[in-house]
Order: sequence, then structure tokens, then C-alpha cells
Amino acid sequence: MGVYETLFRFAEVTHKYMGDPGTHPWAQGFPLTTQLPGGPPLPESIAIAAVDRMYPKADGQMPLREAIAAYYRRVHGAKITADHVMVFAGGRPGIFAILAFLLEDWQVAIEETEYTPYWDLLKLLRRPTVLIPSHVGNRFRPTLDDHPRAERTLLVKSNPLNPTGVTWTGKDLQQLVAFYSQPGRAALLDEAYEFFHDDGPVSALRHVDDIDATNLFVSGAATKGLQVPGMRVGWIVAAKKHVELFRNYSSLGMGGVSRASQLYVTQLLEPSRVDLATRAVAAFYGAQRRAFGDGLRQMGLELFTGDGGFYHWCRLPKGLTGDTFNERLMQHDAAILPGRLCDMARRGDRGPLGDMFRFSFGPLTADAVQPALQILRRCL
Ligand SMILES: Cc1ncc(COP(=O)(O)O)c(C=O)c1O
Repeated sequence: MGVYETLFRFAEVTHKYMGDPGTHPWAQGFPLTTQLPGGPPLPESIAIAAVDRMYPKADGQMPLREAIAAYYRRVHGAKITADHVMVFAGGRPGIFAILAFLLEDWQVAIEETEYTPYWDLLKLLRRPTVLIPSHVGNRFRPTLDDHPRAERTLLVKSNPLNPTGVTWTGKDLQQLVAFYSQPGRAALLDEAYEFFHDDGPVSALRHVDDIDATNLFVSGAATKGLQVPGMRVGWIVAAKKHVELFRNYSSLGMGGVSRASQLYVTQLLEPSRVDLATRAVAAFYGAQRRAFGDGLRQMGLELFTGDGGFYHWCRLPKGLTGDTFNERLMQHDAAILPGRLCDMARRGDRGPLGDMFRFSFGPLTADAVQPALQILRRCL
């Protein structure tokens, strides 16, 4: 049940909903939904005409699909068109569709430490899974040599990775893309945190020559970087033949995505606005990553955080588990995500990730740094 387990426990202990004013939602993965320093304003309204009250197109409205494709072409030099883009109601529904329609005799390769819902999805869909080692021993930084060589394998990977923030870029990312572009291989690269990277946005699409010749699926969303989780807009970029399959699925199982949300997000992708947003996100969250990183290290926590995302991936002192730490934090209306929920083998509080936790600074403003560090220090 992933993060919901923590949310329910929080409500039980504090009689509050995590995220309500006065709570400290460090377990949750949402960004600020207010204007960032130096960032563009977030529109407060959209105009809706009669045509916008009609059913949406199954694969997404053309202006949004065009805007998404144009963004990847302009920023990453991607060789794609709107025909390679399928719009979903957020990031997770696209990920679900890929795993649901994966052929039965394919296996999934996944890093041992990953985004918590992947585990639930793989279990629910009964997908055979091979783990790529990612633990304290390799500092949560596996290399391509650690990946399975068997054919009929789909890699599922977030990049930047949630919870570690470790980000594959440059030559490493290029080699990863080349490896999974081979026949008999496939990859879902989940780029929900694309904008949250110190050196600017990162995308696998930068390294794809002819997406139609691959089984690569690049997942993006307006949820984090564009700061609108409530709009529920995400997308998958893939070969045209896969987009057609998603379109058929949408017409029988989803009915498209809210036109109002699509209109809203299309505005957010206007080139000069999006450039301002990418710079502001990287600058603001980079500064927050450093401020929290310094504070967490000073209190004696070992950090394994990379240079992306909006999480710190921390190791507790010996004898303290993520769950025990959370019970203490909840006395202060605060909570973190226990590391065991990022364990793709779910080995529990006594397993290899039992003493790890994910600290989210996604929803925190700059003036929340010191009060947050104070609570954490007291609970340690
Ligand atoms: C790695 C990763 N992928 C996808 C998502 C999904 O976002 P959405 O809320 O749009 O489904 C998240 C959100 O936390 C995430 O962390």
C-alpha cells in the first residue's frame, strides 16, 4: 500500500490528514503549487467553450500532444511528433497501462530500491521480476553491468530516481538507452522529476534516434515540474504502434482525460514559460536539497542522495528503523516515508532498507528548513 500506509497511520495517531495546514508532510511526494522565486505565475483560470464540454479525444487533444512533442524537440532535440505522444490522467495511469499490456512471457527488471507503487503494480499484475542490486553496498548506484542480460526484459526505472535522487545523464544514460533499444528489450523510463536536476532537465529522448524502432516508453507528467498534481495530466512518449494500442485502451477503459485539465497544461508548456519554470525549479529545489542535506548530515545521518528529485535518502543510526522514527515524528504532526516501502522485495522493517528513510522537501518553502530540522533533531 506504499505511502498510503503512512498516511493512514498518521491520521490514526494525529487525527489529522497529512498535508493539512500545520502538519509536516515529509512523507509525501508533491511539489509546491505556488509560484517559485523567479518562476512563472500559475494561471488562475481557463476559458471553457461548448466544444470543451464534449468528450475528449481518446489519445489526448492535439494542441497538448503537439506542445509536449515540441517541448522534447526543442529542449532535448528529440526526433518525435505528436503521433508519438499519448496523454493519460497523470503519471501512474500510463505506467499501469504499460505493465498491464506487457506480453505475458516478458519479465520486468527493476532496481531493488525504487518508487513505492511500482511494487504494488508488479504484484497486482503478477509480473515476474528481476532485481538490479541497489543498496548501501553500492551506495544505491547500480551500473549497466548490474542489469540482467536475458531477452524479453522490460526495465522499469525512474530517472531521477525516487527515492534516491540518483540521476543517469550523459554517456551513462546514452548507453542505457542503447542497451534497451535492442530487439527483445524494452524500457519504461519514468521522468516525473525531469526538471528537478541540478544541471537542468534530463531526458532519455535526447539519446533516441528512431523511437518507432524501439520499445522505449518515456513517461512524463505535469505533476511535479509544472507544479500541478491536481490537474492529473501525464503522458507517455513511445513508438506510434504503442500509442495506437494506448488509444484503443483509452477508448474502452479510460474515456480520455479531462479537457479542462488538458487546456490548462497546454498553456503551461508555452516555450518561454516552460524555460522560466525549468530554471526556477532547478534553482529553488537545488538550494533546498543543499540546505536540508547540510542539516541532515550535521545531525549524524548518512545521506545517499543524488543530484535530482526532491528527496533525501537517509540512513538512521544503528538500532533505529524508519517505522520507529515515524512514531516519534508523528508526535510532532510530522512523518517521513520508511525505507522499507521503497524495497522492491518488501523485506520489511528488518530488511536491508529498514534503517533508511525518504525525506521529502517537495512541499516545503525555504522558511520551513530550520523548523523541520529542529523536529528531526529532537526525534533522533
Ligand atoms: C517516480 C514517479 N513516477 C510517477 C509519479 C506519478 O505521478 P502522478 O501523481 O502524476 O501519477 C510519481 C509521483 O510521486 C513519481 O514519484
